[in-house]
Amino acid sequence: MESNILPAVALGAAGGGLTEFRLESGASITVAGDGVGVGDVVELAVRPEAVALCHDGAPPAPNTYVTEVLSAWLLYLLATNPAYLTRVRTDIDEIMDGTDGALTLQAVRAARALSYAVDEAGRLRSPVCNAPRVTVRAVEFGGYAIPEGTRVLLGLAAGHRLPHVFADPDRFDPDRFAPPRAEDKATPYSLVTFGGGPRVCIGMSFARVEIVAMAMWVLRSYTLTPIEGQALMHRCDGIIASLPHGLSVHVTAR
Ligand code: HEM
Repeated sequence: MESNILPAVALGAAGGGLTEFRLESGASITVAGDGVGVGDVVELAVRPEAVALCHDGAPPAPNTYVTEVLSAWLLYLLATNPAYLTRVRTDIDEIMDGTDGALTLQAVRAARALSYAVDEAGRLRSPVCNAPRVTVRAVEFGGYAIPEGTRVLLGLAAGHRLPHVFADPDRFDPDRFAPPRAEDKATPYSLVTFGGGPRVCIGMSFARVEIVAMAMWVLRSYTLTPIEGQALMHRCDGIIASLPHGLSVHVTAR
């Protein structure tokens, strides 16, 4: 488990160029074109064969897959925040220098700056926007009397923007999760990208390892810079978010 798990995840380096990064869940991040050269455009969006077990068995529609959506936003947000991206890359280089280049679980766990960026990407662009529930008894909430048997949605994404929980909530600021600030620790269930309580996502650790490993692999080899003027949409029609336009960044080989 320890040494070889992550090379198996990073199956995507086909033909010497980055054409596809395939995640163990079956999801993948693809590059437009054959491999990457300086200034090429990489598509960070999704492939339809993704497995998303947390969709209550419903067949996933294209571009709605939670792991890929979070992965795509992570890389996009890093590309558009170069100061933090530099810190992440310095961190990764320090972790990986002196190793044989294999991405181990230990290396993934050591990537703290990247881990905080995953937290922040999940907070700002929650792949699961709402969690559906039914009240099992009458309850009063926020001054409203809600009868038993009412269908309600827990607004996970909306809760991530509460200014009394997260300072300057619309700002990309991964350090909010680092000590001593640790804003998510002050209020129970404040960061609920993966839900919380007894129904917390069972794939959370797995998904986080996948996403961090993917990002370490990409950032070791490539520099990401933003593409101005692209149509951005994080659409939430109910439960799961989608990226109708995908997300793209410029890729430069390091
Ligand atoms: C970035 C990736 C992921 C995100 C953001 C995510 C998010 C969530 C959220 C918010 C819930 C709670 C839903 C609720 O309370 O109604 C959940 C539940 C669940 N997730 Fe995920 N998930 C992710 C990846 C995965 C993966 C990779 C798996 C499986 C390998 C998985 C399996 C599940 C299952 C089975 C549940 C239901 C747990 C229960 O009700 O007891 N998820 N997920």
